[in-house]
Amino acid sequence: MTAAPSAFSYSDGVLAVEQVALSAIARRFGTPCFVYSRAALERAYRDFDAAFSAIPHQICYAMKANSNLAVLNLFARLGSGFDVVSGGELARVVAAGGDPRQVVFSGVGKTDPEMAQALDLSIRCFNVESASELERLNAVAARRKTRAPVSFRVNPDVDPRTHPYISTGLRDNKFGIAFGEARALYRHAATLPHIALRGIDMHIGSQITDLEPHVEAARKSVALVDQLSSEGIRLEHLDIGGGIGIRYRDEPIIDLSAYASSITAVLGDRQLELMLEPGRYLVGNAGVLLTRVLYLKPGAEKNFAIVDAAMNDLLRPALYDAWHDVRPVQPHGGESALWQVVGPVCETADFLGHDRELALAEHDLLSIGSAGAYAMAMSSNYNSRPRAAEVIVDGATVHLVRSRERNADLFANESLLP
Ligand code: LLP
Repeated sequence: MTAAPSAFSYSDGVLAVEQVALSAIARRFGTPCFVYSRAALERAYRDFDAAFSAIPHQICYAMKANSNLAVLNLFARLGSGFDVVSGGELARVVAAGGDPRQVVFSGVGKTDPEMAQALDLSIRCFNVESASELERLNAVAARRKTRAPVSFRVNPDVDPRTHPYISTGLRDNKFGIAFGEARALYRHAATLPHIALRGIDMHIGSQITDLEPHVEAARKSVALVDQLSSEGIRLEHLDIGGGIGIRYRDEPIIDLSAYASSITAVLGDRQLELMLEPGRYLVGNAGVLLTRVLYLKPGAEKNFAIVDAAMNDLLRPALYDAWHDVRPVQPHGGESALWQVVGPVCETADFLGHDRELALAEHDLLSIGSAGAYAMAMSSNYNSRPRAAEVIVDGATVHLVRSRERNADLFANESLLP
């Protein structure tokens, strides 16, 4: 697959998103501000979808990566379903005009009200992660006089070779049903009156840059599907989860057509619909975090550039030591130095980038790259900082899709003692 031109590039000395200069966005909406490109979002979705066009498949966007309603709505218009992990996410799907019948519900801790909400909306499938959850779901479905569509998330015990905090498919992770116990659980589930067995599910981790773990896990799952089928338990779909990594810096990335053809080969001529739950791949490189340099604080040991975005806006560097590109919006001459790009939050972990070679002046705008995934979605109000605005650029037009929180929003749900 040839690399598409980036939606983020310099034009007349200013970093632009599609046809809009980031400096114009900062003037109009202030900073910090998340800026997404509609073209980049749609291109990522279409590339992913096209890679699997030869076989029956359904993308269920893992919306935990970025759950802004406008983003969800764009994907829904392209035919996406959604992978949700909470009643809140399910409510967002509905609010965004998505189709609940194309929703899969993942997660190890679904509550009774969440199960009821999902049953009432006739979601496509529950990805069940434990024997106890199965019993609970059967009981909730019984009370509603219905049958819950179920797929077991099996833990294939393969090493995705990614950051330990985001690997999920190893035996000692909290996720999924131990591979060796899955068959017995399927047999038991087949006897439950309010459960309808539909499929098998896996998700081995995130930001995976190797194809092999995906293929190995899919092979194991398909072997289980065959065993079950020989016992008369016929499944309709294989859900291979998400996890395809993106390039933040210079990581190797998985070629989508190689991914699709390997998985297609594993499926062979089985009548299984393929379900996919990409999150990061669809949104990660479609967004940046726009921030302004507040102060420069050069020092004997280190130089600090204090910017107006912080770990409450982008937690990934603090939490995973993640690397995000830092680019000047309007590069100017002047001497470059090594800068620690840090936020105003009172934590040493509050950094966006360490040791970046940049020529900086106070008031400069910076663009923090690959901030479309797990950025705004993981943001908080720590230090009572209002959440940033979010905009989507569409050609020469900018749409505000979430307004900047106001100080009053911070404590709107709080009250004083009488
Ligand atoms: N399906 C399930 C069941 C998941 O748990 C996840 C992500 C996905 C799909 C989507 O994975 P993706 O395609 O985005 O890799 N906050 C971390 C990532 C946590 C991922 C959690 N699960 C980060 O910022 O890197």
